[in-house]
Amino acid sequence: SDQPLVIFTPSGKRGRVAPGTTVLAAARQLGVDLDSVCGGRGICSKCQITPSFGEFAKHGVTVREDALSDWNKVEQRYDDKRGLPKGRRLGCQACIQGDVVLDVPPESQVHRQVIRKSADTRPMVMDPATRLYFVEVEEPDMHEPSGDFERLAQALSDQWEVTGVTADPSLLARLQGVLRKGNWQVTVAVHKDHTGAVPRVLEVWPGLHEGGLYGLAIDLGSTTIAAHLTDLETGEVKASSGLMNPQIRFGEDLMSRVSYVMMNPGGEVELTQVVRAALADLARALAGEAGIDPALIVEAAVVCNPVMHHLLLGIDPTELGQAPFALAVSEALSMPASDLDLGTINPRARAYLLPCIAGHVGADAAAVSLATAPEMSDELMLVIDVGTNAEILLGDKTRVLACSSPTGPAFEGAQISSGQRAAPGAIERIEIDPVTKDPRFRVIGLDLWSDDPGFAQAVAQTGVTGICGSGIIEAVAEMRMAGLLDPSGLIGSAEQTGTPRCEAEGRTHAYLIHDGSAEGGPRITVTQGDIRAIQLAKSALYAGARLLMDERGADRVDRIVLAGAFGAHISPKHAMVLGMIPDAPLDHVTSAGNAAGTGARMALCSNAARVQVEKGVREITKIETAIAPKFQEHFVNANAIPHKVDTFPELLQ
Ligand code: FES
Repeated sequence: SDQPLVIFTPSGKRGRVAPGTTVLAAARQLGVDLDSVCGGRGICSKCQITPSFGEFAKHGVTVREDALSDWNKVEQRYDDKRGLPKGRRLGCQACIQGDVVLDVPPESQVHRQVIRKSADTRPMVMDPATRLYFVEVEEPDMHEPSGDFERLAQALSDQWEVTGVTADPSLLARLQGVLRKGNWQVTVAVHKDHTGAVPRVLEVWPGLHEGGLYGLAIDLGSTTIAAHLTDLETGEVKASSGLMNPQIRFGEDLMSRVSYVMMNPGGEVELTQVVRAALADLARALAGEAGIDPALIVEAAVVCNPVMHHLLLGIDPTELGQAPFALAVSEALSMPASDLDLGTINPRARAYLLPCIAGHVGADAAAVSLATAPEMSDELMLVIDVGTNAEILLGDKTRVLACSSPTGPAFEGAQISSGQRAAPGAIERIEIDPVTKDPRFRVIGLDLWSDDPGFAQAVAQTGVTGICGSGIIEAVAEMRMAGLLDPSGLIGSAEQTGTPRCEAEGRTHAYLIHDGSAEGGPRITVTQGDIRAIQLAKSALYAGARLLMDERGADRVDRIVLAGAFGAHISPKHAMVLGMIPDAPLDHVTSAGNAAGTGARMALCSNAARVQVEKGVREITKIETAIAPKFQEHFVNANAIPHKVDTFPELLQ
């Protein structure tokens, strides 16, 4: 054939095109994902490719050695002005002459895959709802009167096949000035999501807009709120920040906030206002940290539990406090971000709330399932997101089940006598010698174990301030393994255990980990009350997992994925010794990091992810722990350490 053969890497897509076809046009013909914002005008440089073999049309313009063949005028102009990286060509300019092999670098793909650290998460592929388009708009003509917006819409349709756009009055109010300032060349941000709703022009800039486009991925927890300012073109996180949920002053846990609303008519308005104000503060702080104009934030995606979901939306959560735990709305919501008062971000920004799974299983669990993809697993996978409530998913390709279990905040170091958040000064790891019964431990912020030389000196500076969630779990498991605790969770006396560290405390005993009085710090002990709090929390977690296993007819799981910031720090062995998680091969217990936050970021950056999470949630079987008769039985049996009846054969290996 006299038609040149074109092969694109890394996709491997290939085909023949007419000689003289541009690389961008060839990519379109062959279904290759090659980006373009300026529509082939040679000004955005989003279409860059690296030719590795082949022949292009000659244009007789100055040759740079690395260009494989000469450039055309537009590429030369671009290189003069901005510099084209070595070996690159502009896909919209290079015309194919003979057979070619062309590499599309990741940054030139619209649907690029975002590289992430954890292997336990679904790949994240960019498919943003809001995209930039550069257009040349017809100038007005007295003989054919039409509005500036209609001509902009026409340009989007002719030049980009984006049809039927609409815009808010506030955008229209900016439009005329911007069109004239840009001399009828403008960049528009168009939001076109997965719902099939009419595409909406969110913003317009004169000329080519190169300031980027951003979104907020928000993980709205009952205790903390985390947000990630994310580049909507690359998926890269530009800044992350978190703060305490200011609703805490109305109640530590969710149910006390629900009771606050029940006792104080109109209380939900206050709760809504404080959380929205906190989100607005976070958005402003993140934009400041990343050094961007907050008006460039055009989208937000929010994950949260059902109570937070309702309170953010301004819905009274009372129904969620009592059976049958009816949600006002469970499906995903897409709305103007201004409905949530997100402050200084773009006034036309859009917000997306992930769907809730059930009255007790929220959009946070939906986000975890989006990130960890149990529905794609061949093995039976148990996913646990440990927070104030534990969100639990169990499933594989055939079916996924979900529930939420009320663990309380003990795993976060709350309600523990020496407990504290994971912060410098907190004990995070601990080992107890089974013979001497003496502990050695590590403190956050000090890169030393307590028996390392230099520890005493280092600790004199910072002090040991308490014990965090992962530390308390290790402490209880180690106490059990060292024989300081019996299976029912009772701490032995000094005589019974043979160590003076088991001090009498009233009618019970407490184990002394560190006496900080020398350095002016607290005495860090694990009391009988602490053990009871951990037993309650771990029993709730285990019983939830076990309930799902019953439903599935499974007596063991193949893989356990721990999600959440806490999951990243917890030691699988200690969690299993404690009987927090069911038996599984220890090397099959892994951490997915902050999966809820990852899920929020995926939904922020991808229409396909939104479709996926909405479909996934419809297919998940919801189990309500509060009314399941078996839950109580599992809970009671799980109170023993590690368990009254279930065995842990993997631990014996
Ligand atoms: Fe914009 Fe090629 S498409 S420079």
